[in-house]
Amino acid sequence: MEIEYLKKLVEEEREIAIREILQNEKEVGEIKTIGEPEDHFYLIKTPLRLERDDVVGLVIEEGIINLGFVLRRYGKYTYLVYPTHDDYIEGDYLLVKSESLISYDLQLYILNKLEELENPTIQEVNALLFEDKTLPPLTVKSPKNYPHLDEFQKEVVNCALSLSKGELLLVVGPPGTGKTRVISTIANEVANSRVLITSHTNRAVDEAIERLPPESSVRVASPSKVSNRLEKHLFEKKVYDTAGEDIRLLDAEIDKCLAKGDYSSARELYAERKSIYERACKEIISKTPVVGATLIKSWLPPLSKFKFGLVLMDEASQVTIPLALLGLVKGEKYVLVGGSQAVTARSEECQVARELQRLQLPQSKVPSQGKVVEEALP
Ligand SMILES: Nc1ncnc2c1ncn2[C@@H]1O[C@H](COP(=O)(O)OP(=O)(O)OP(=O)(O)O)[C@@H](O)[C@H]1O
Ligand SMILES: [Mg+2]
Repeated sequence: MEIEYLKKLVEEEREIAIREILQNEKEVGEIKTIGEPEDHFYLIKTPLRLERDDVVGLVIEEGIINLGFVLRRYGKYTYLVYPTHDDYIEGDYLLVKSESLISYDLQLYILNKLEELENPTIQEVNALLFEDKTLPPLTVKSPKNYPHLDEFQKEVVNCALSLSKGELLLVVGPPGTGKTRVISTIANEVANSRVLITSHTNRAVDEAIERLPPESSVRVASPSKVSNRLEKHLFEKKVYDTAGEDIRLLDAEIDKCLAKGDYSSARELYAERKSIYERACKEIISKTPVVGATLIKSWLPPLSKFKFGLVLMDEASQVTIPLALLGLVKGEKYVLVGGSQAVTARSEECQVARELQRLQLPQSKVPSQGKVVEEALP
């Protein structure tokens, strides 16, 4: 019942977001699918002013569906869009910028998956989410001394490093008590396991990642959303340091083919570009021990297929339950850090996240033939 209620809240917020999107810029665009599903991109011709990494949405009768991310602009009105699903789409649609929907779609996805879990798990989920519980005492396996931390902070770090698979550590402390410092220290200390530092805002992730060396941590986000202080940590920079030359050459070739209308060569070059880009992404994410990304971004490329040993969630007290679940599903052990009146640290089993660990990125279906919806919904 409680999950139903959460879904209703998210659906209501999604409706509000749709109304806001429809009040903003919207333009008709001609969409072409280039290539076979799973290895295709969209070519979109539209006066809608798009930037790199913008999310393009289609207005259809049922509402708005996200189509993909702008990869590059080609010519004045044409964009290459990296698809978020495998649908073949051709024709004229009303287009909008729809990034805000990603968050609601993912939250609804995870809540629907929760509902599908069989009893008695669903009771455990409700107990975990909604009931007050007495938590088991903290355990510390082999305590270490951290001279730059106070006694409470040391205890938290030692507890976090003693977690077993499936356990969750909840850390609560008032503003300015060093919670983010603790997160960075834990990330720095974890050996033999990959760490995700996450939160609901880019700023919170930046603050934890900037205290870590850029050699061992990577900040995954659109460069425009990240503080300048994190230039060396930026995922995009690392990708271009690894494969930038090849990618730039291929982009120039793709542009030439598109200019000639040679879509078949453009498609082949794009497939090559995609595989070079994805190889570089995989290499960087796999070899960098600490990854920083927002809860939503941790579900999107290049992180959609990656799981982590430890998830460190900062400012968790400001995160909604479905968003927090998205973070938990990405890991095997969890440290949730948030603000409150008292400084405490607790640990417990987190069975829900274990149950949900095999989830894939959701796909949405779009009508394959374009049609401009005049009366925008709702
Ligand atoms: N043990 C410590 N010794 C010295 N300085 C510390 C210590 N712990 C925290 N600080 C400093 O206190 C400031 C606040 O720390 P931090 O940002 O980690 O706190 P926070 O609890 O995350 O704050 P907020 O609630 O605003 O997110 C920082 O400048 C940090 O370097
Ligand atoms: Mg903080």
